Amino acid sequence: MAARIRRNVWKLDRSDETLAWYGKAVAALIRRPIEDPSSWRYLAAVHGTPQGMATPASARGYWDQCQHQSWFFLPWHRGYLASFEATIAKTVKDLGGPADWALPFWDYSESLSTERNARLLPSAFVERTLGDGSPNPLWSRRARAPGGNFELDDTAVSTGALRFTNFTNSRPGVPSGFGGPETGFNPGGGDNGGIESVPHNRIHVKIGGDSGFMSDPSTAALDPIFWLHHANIDRLWEVWRNQGPQFQDPSDERWLTSVVFQMHDGDGRPITFRCADMLDTTKVLHGYTYEAVPVAQEAELESVEMAMAGGARPEFGGESEGPVVLTGPTTKADVVLVPPSGLEAATAEPRHVYLNLENITGAGIPGDYLVYIDVPDDDQPTASFIGVMTTFGLERASDKSLSHGGSGLSQVFEITELASQLKLSEANVSRLKVTFVREGVAKADADAPAELADYAAVQRKPANVTVGKISLFYD
Ligand code: C2O
Repeated sequence: MAARIRRNVWKLDRSDETLAWYGKAVAALIRRPIEDPSSWRYLAAVHGTPQGMATPASARGYWDQCQHQSWFFLPWHRGYLASFEATIAKTVKDLGGPADWALPFWDYSESLSTERNARLLPSAFVERTLGDGSPNPLWSRRARAPGGNFELDDTAVSTGALRFTNFTNSRPGVPSGFGGPETGFNPGGGDNGGIESVPHNRIHVKIGGDSGFMSDPSTAALDPIFWLHHANIDRLWEVWRNQGPQFQDPSDERWLTSVVFQMHDGDGRPITFRCADMLDTTKVLHGYTYEAVPVAQEAELESVEMAMAGGARPEFGGESEGPVVLTGPTTKADVVLVPPSGLEAATAEPRHVYLNLENITGAGIPGDYLVYIDVPDDDQPTASFIGVMTTFGLERASDKSLSHGGSGLSQVFEITELASQLKLSEANVSRLKVTFVREGVAKADADAPAELADYAAVQRKPANVTVGKISLFYD
């Protein structure tokens, strides 16, 4: 069979049956017992399980495997998607459907001028019931969003991460690149890679809200839209690599071959894979390609030059006076600045300036925070936006019983240009003001598909977030 072609969900013709077959297969999988590796609940448990859910002996090493805040994020999810796609495709075929079923992708970042619906949840997922009154298998427990409008704004769908020329980075204090920081096998905690932070994390929290399935890694894959979201993230990895020869996956054996992941194929047989097996999509399990991966356009590329791996921590430039507890809609905190050494001369400026949010811990579903910076008492009336602090996976990263000891998430923003406008490196500027504006999360439906009611009953902890430290680094 030729490789499957994953298509843009908003570009499927009216007569296309991809989503109708997807719905039929979801309905079949959701009825299978959780111990069955081809069941809906088993497949979701491979990503994560809610607290208190016991893992059967046969599923040990197969459940709770998702790789986040890690350079394994993209390759692990690629294998996961292929395993899921194979299971759905087999079910579609067994139900009398086409043999070449492929997972569509949801390109919420497409320009509204070429696809005006791009930011809306594809319509087949919106309604609770189908035309004949039966339950819609593609409906799920999500933030309330009439017409599938989750208010995805530019900050949620930005593909700015494509400009990172490095896939990873091991240097503390600087951004970890497109794909994520160097880690071992990793259940979460630390810094998100660029593409994982935005749009990946933003979309999860916007769709799930408080407390739909998508906003928590332990339930996210129960929502049928999870898979179309991840197909798009997986496609963006292809887009990134296709931008030109400087966009290279890691060549380090610690990434390529040292960690082995395990799952099941479409027939429920155990399989293993390493990152090296995930590099050519036509060879991943049954093989697939994407429509709409643009060809390289190097000339137009304005890439982000990043401090490369292996160097020392960049020079310390100041920190907050203590942990910052984010309460209320807006929280302000000061960073006490230390002028960089050797830069006393007004002409010398650091090449890069990074603002770090360290040890972000908390619980519940607080939603994301827009982050602004300013210097107190300058003549500019407004603070400048530097990016979004994403909180997907916060509770898991704060869990002291997991391998990272609950040290939480972290996030790095490059603020070089603003730092120079605000003259941060000059000795007379002694403080930087950082403002966190809570975006808030929409309330989710109380209901869930009947077969998944148990998951919807899981009690959430009240939301809280603390940023352990805000720090500044020069390089
Ligand atoms: Cu492993 Cu979108 O999550």
